[in-house]
Amino acid sequence: MSQLLTVEGISKGFPGVQALDGVNFELDRGEVLALVGENGAGKSTLMKILSGIYTMDSGRIAIDGDEVDVNDPKVAQKLGISIIHQEMNLMPHLTVAQNIYIGREPRTGPWLRDGELNRRTKQLLEGLNIHLRPSQVVGDLTVASQQMVEIAKALSYDHTKILIMDEPTSAISISETQVLFGLIRSLRDRGVGIVYISHRMEELRQIADRVTVLRDGQYVGTRRMDEVSDDEIISMMVGREISAGYSSRQDVPAHTGELALSVRSLSTKKLLRDVSFDLHKGEILGFAGLMGAGRTETARALIGADPVSGGTVAVNGKEVRISGPEVAVRLGIGYLPEDRKRHGLMLEQDVAFNVAMASLSSNKAPLGFLREGRARKVTDRFIKALRIKTPSSRTMVKTLSGGNQQKVVIAKWLARDCDVLIFDEPTRGIDVGAKEEIYKLLNDLADEGKAIIMISSELPEVLRLSHRIVVMSQGRVTGTLTPDKADQESIMKLATQNIEDVAA
Ligand SMILES: Nc1ncnc2c1ncn2[C@@H]1O[C@H](COP(=O)(O)OP(=O)(O)OP(=O)(O)O)[C@@H](O)[C@H]1O
Ligand SMILES: [Mg+2]
Repeated sequence: MSQLLTVEGISKGFPGVQALDGVNFELDRGEVLALVGENGAGKSTLMKILSGIYTMDSGRIAIDGDEVDVNDPKVAQKLGISIIHQEMNLMPHLTVAQNIYIGREPRTGPWLRDGELNRRTKQLLEGLNIHLRPSQVVGDLTVASQQMVEIAKALSYDHTKILIMDEPTSAISISETQVLFGLIRSLRDRGVGIVYISHRMEELRQIADRVTVLRDGQYVGTRRMDEVSDDEIISMMVGREISAGYSSRQDVPAHTGELALSVRSLSTKKLLRDVSFDLHKGEILGFAGLMGAGRTETARALIGADPVSGGTVAVNGKEVRISGPEVAVRLGIGYLPEDRKRHGLMLEQDVAFNVAMASLSSNKAPLGFLREGRARKVTDRFIKALRIKTPSSRTMVKTLSGGNQQKVVIAKWLARDCDVLIFDEPTRGIDVGAKEEIYKLLNDLADEGKAIIMISSELPEVLRLSHRIVVMSQGRVTGTLTPDKADQESIMKLATQNIEDVAA
């Protein structure tokens, strides 16, 4: 029997970039194939070609042995190809149900049948074990829930033969990931072929049968997962030897002890109860906890992005009132949001505009006098330091790969030169090699005396980088640990602590 999917010699160029250069791969029925590579390697581009969003320059695609011409997303759907996009493609003002069945709504003549739409959606969500209401407006949902809507949408086509998942778990919790893996396994058992893209090695180990590696738009090779080590996959990805091993922080000298930020009894109507902590100059304070524990909420309340119902904040020992993010920036507090598409970037602008925009506006110079040359120079420095893969500082941000967009957000806040930097999931979607660079950068910033809050769901990362670790659960701080006394287990215990249990 012929292969489910055969891809041969696919090439695709964009202005200034050869995104794909003669790539091959094969996918079997009932197989999960991991597709990996560094940020900008060409993974998403390849998948967009398979789903009819981009047209290839040359190459050949065959399904069940027959050559196909996937020149339009509708054609891809008819051929049974479904995709979960890396950057979410939902309509924020529409409901969950409207997003899932957009363009396929049940109708009687010209009339939409809303009841039927919601009923169908409810059934789908229940079958997938996703706890959302069909009538909820997508823009009001958390990033994690939006990602679950994307997943539900891709799984709502009943004749799917090939399912493409482009970093589907980047924003969801461990338990949601396990639900997703359960779904993947049952689809696989029904003969669906799945292409799974992720930068998380431990996920590939759990779910993939084989792994295909791309580097700089070229095909490097394919291995069976049970016959290849993590280090081997990584060196295929980066073309050199590096190890993904984690060491812990213990070797690092303690910070100077001078207070940068003091938060006392910060509360919000929605979630936070009496959140208190100190942050010192030169310190990296890790924030650990499960999804929804209140870490992002703490950051947002702190910078005045969300209303606060009580508590105080002191900067350099002086109590301040932070009524909004601009005030926070003026006080030297920068926040890199986890949801970069919504809060972090101007996608229709170029790289230099995004990197230098924030720091330039703080000069209060009238725009006409802004020296663009200087902005470009600053930007070029960050492009080099963070190895942002872009043809130039004039490239539009929306054309960069997901991981490289994330690096632009980081560069933007570094250019601003804040004394306190709050990083929310700084390495989400970042490849293994670049992660190391970001870790080094955070360490260097701390060594320069910056005070850093790092919110992260990756415990090894929290353990390795933090001087101290604040653990949250259900809107409260359940413990503060030092890395020498902490391990994944002790953190998880605090992170899952039920507040009612403590009170009792
Ligand atoms: N629409 C576009 N216009 C111009 N260049 C593009 C476009 N889409 C992708 N590129 C470029 O093609 C290259 C490959 O990008 P792609 O998004 O496929 O990478 P990726 O492997 O998915 O990376 P990541 O892990 O960061 O998601 C990058 O250099 C990117 O800037
Ligand atoms: Mg991508």
